[in-house]
Amino acid sequence: MRRMGCHGYCVLIVVLHVVALVRVSPALLQTATSDFSRDDFPPPPRFVFGAGSSAYQVEGAAFEDGRTPSIWDTFAHSGRYGDKNGDIACDMYHKYKEDVQLMVDTGLEAYRFSISWPRVIPNGRGPVNPKGVHYYSSLINELLSHGIQPHVTLFHYDIPQALEDEYGGWVSRKIVKDFTTFADVCFREFGDRVSHWTTMNEANVFVLGGYDKGVFPPGRCSSPFGSNCAGGNSTTEPYIATHNILLAHASAVRLYKEKYQAKQHGLIGLDILTYGLVPLTNSTEDEKAAERAHDFFHGWFLNPLVFGDYPESMKRNVGSRLPSFTPLQSKLVKGSCDFFGLNHYRTMYIKDDPGSLNMNQRDYLGDMGAQMLSKQGILPTGEFPIDPAGLQIVLENFKEVYGNPPVIIYENGQMTFHNASLDATLNDTSRVEYLEAFMGGLLQAMRNESNVKGYFVWSFMDLFELFAGPRSTFGLYYVDFDNPDLKRYARFSAHWYSSFLKGRRINQYLWHY
Ligand code: BGC
Repeated sequence: MRRMGCHGYCVLIVVLHVVALVRVSPALLQTATSDFSRDDFPPPPRFVFGAGSSAYQVEGAAFEDGRTPSIWDTFAHSGRYGDKNGDIACDMYHKYKEDVQLMVDTGLEAYRFSISWPRVIPNGRGPVNPKGVHYYSSLINELLSHGIQPHVTLFHYDIPQALEDEYGGWVSRKIVKDFTTFADVCFREFGDRVSHWTTMNEANVFVLGGYDKGVFPPGRCSSPFGSNCAGGNSTTEPYIATHNILLAHASAVRLYKEKYQAKQHGLIGLDILTYGLVPLTNSTEDEKAAERAHDFFHGWFLNPLVFGDYPESMKRNVGSRLPSFTPLQSKLVKGSCDFFGLNHYRTMYIKDDPGSLNMNQRDYLGDMGAQMLSKQGILPTGEFPIDPAGLQIVLENFKEVYGNPPVIIYENGQMTFHNASLDATLNDTSRVEYLEAFMGGLLQAMRNESNVKGYFVWSFMDLFELFAGPRSTFGLYYVDFDNPDLKRYARFSAHWYSSFLKGRRINQYLWHY
């Protein structure tokens, strides 16, 4: 069997190059363990293993029971991805009971999903749609009746199109009030049964894809930074949207804490994408560039949420295009996360790019003054290189820089290309190798005192994969999108994860499953 975990060599390279970014403890030099079992992690509910999805990517039923389009429907229907869209997706809206049964068969302890705002409040504000509420209530009850903990995201890239049309969605301050009202409805209707709320999924990626490059909904950008832009300004809007996202998050959290938390006993946080950020060379310039990349990519959200303000390097390089917090806003945003959701897939190598700061017109990358390079890129097979040291670096950084707040790894998983042969599609050994390596790396980080409370594979099943393109899949379960019934099949990775969750050790023996 081919094995590709991150070896001592790559851990060492990473560690040598990252000293300026975080103080790395010598224990990080140890490679991720590949001999572990469920019992090596704290038991649920102190630590949960799950898998995830998002509303637009799995539900389908796009025009049913009162749902109206979100910005993601509009984006998908603009032809960016040929004739593909999420109108039907996995049809989980109708198949949720059988999907929960698959989760039970797999042994999932928790399931992460998101709530479609335009399904619950079709015009973005105003009347609540009882059928939308009924769907999520039933899903939550189905999960709980099988002992699966629901982890719920309020925004996974799909605000109602009505609000985008009315005032420009996230670029307007008006969204703070509407988002808070939507959150209020969700807390009121579902909060008695939800232990973990996340306000925003991958907020940092959303604002860059949606407002700088224009490659994610709502597709806003300006030339030369993006093409086919649906209006926008890449030099300012990512910063404005981020500011409004932080204020909307903080406002929803304040409401939750004042009105619900004492009786519902849940926790609330925000989720970002993280990269292991490694200087390309050991030059001082690249090391400084890696620090800036950390400030721009992670600190953009984490610094306000933990310390109440944007990182100094951002204030310096972005200047007046970076909105500032009033003292009141800063107080509201600071400390507004009970935990952080971290999505993690890959390591990025950072190269200093001093010339970019001399340009008259700069977008986010220009302001960062650094290039983010993926050293190996995506492998020809469509897979990500396997580098769990990157996750260990992120967690170490959290510990050292942000005071070790509780974190949940909400997305981690391997991308594979669709394969014409069913056997090849189901035999996803590279996904198992990836998960094994990252779970081993996570265990190592936890042994080094990282405060991690959960790990979720992305994704539970194949879904409408807008970001990486329709050829790519992440699912533990394969969904045959050509089959009228959208039949689900367990992949090797589903069996492997299930064995682990049911108590078998992850070691060579398991490879003969
Ligand atoms: C997103 C998911 C997406 C995944 C793989 C993450 O950025 O949260 O919605 O499916 O990446 O592309």
